[in-house]
Amino acid sequence: MQRITVRDIAEMKTKGEKIPMVTTYDYPTARLAEAADIPVLLVGDSLGMVVLGYDSTIPVTMADMLHHVKAVARGAKKALIVADLPFMSYQVDAAQAMTNAGRMVQEGGAHAVKLEGGECVAETVRRVVACGIPVMGHIGLTPQSVNAIGGYRVQGRGLQEAAQLLRDARALQAAGAFALVLELVPAPLAGLVSRKLSIPTIGIGAGPECDGQVQVLHDMLGLYTDFVPKHAKQYAHLAQDAQAGLSAYAKEVREGAFPTEKESFSMGEAVLRELESL
Ligand code: KIV
Repeated sequence: MQRITVRDIAEMKTKGEKIPMVTTYDYPTARLAEAADIPVLLVGDSLGMVVLGYDSTIPVTMADMLHHVKAVARGAKKALIVADLPFMSYQVDAAQAMTNAGRMVQEGGAHAVKLEGGECVAETVRRVVACGIPVMGHIGLTPQSVNAIGGYRVQGRGLQEAAQLLRDARALQAAGAFALVLELVPAPLAGLVSRKLSIPTIGIGAGPECDGQVQVLHDMLGLYTDFVPKHAKQYAHLAQDAQAGLSAYAKEVREGAFPTEKESFSMGEAVLRELESL
């Protein structure tokens, strides 16, 4: 099985083929996404919220990320694995970014890293790329800056903000990023940025004109029922299925209906008789 590379992803844009990407956080989700022929798996720091139960991505550490990246790498034999660099693992300076990007690839088994920010991280991106590590940029809503932004809201609606977003996108492309996530950006602006860049844009809440789309696995598979972001579409309703299964199991255990002979193992009558006499 041949591994998908950043060259394949670039070629998909050239050919006008849309790029599906999804977050995966462990061995089973990586296997499921790969069986669905999804070429790019993102081990997103969203795992802090959807797997670890934090209320933002800010508490996520390099240790958390590496633990999950390794599990995804064990499950995905074909897809390109992109690992998020967590909050404060690349912002201090380029040396810190290179060290941590290197760990994601060398220890984690990722093939690329993603980091948040535009012009202000372009030099860092350039340095990491120069180490031979592909970098995916991430602009628009950058969740690691939620405290500075003041909430999870659409970015780039006004002229100045939109023009800055375009400058950020161009700076990341010039720095060598192989692709760019556009998060919570008005659809027409995401379309314009996608047309102006030669590298692929991957949208989340950024409309249909991006070169690819990324979704958080738990949102799209319906693993949570209390909150579904506007930009997410539920392609399955796993929470209901899982809850129904767990309730049926608990009921059968309480009633003595599980396990039956079918789920049990036998042994020789003679051994049993011997044991009974002890
Ligand atoms: O962490 C994540 O899941 C992400 C996506 C929302 C793009 O960065």
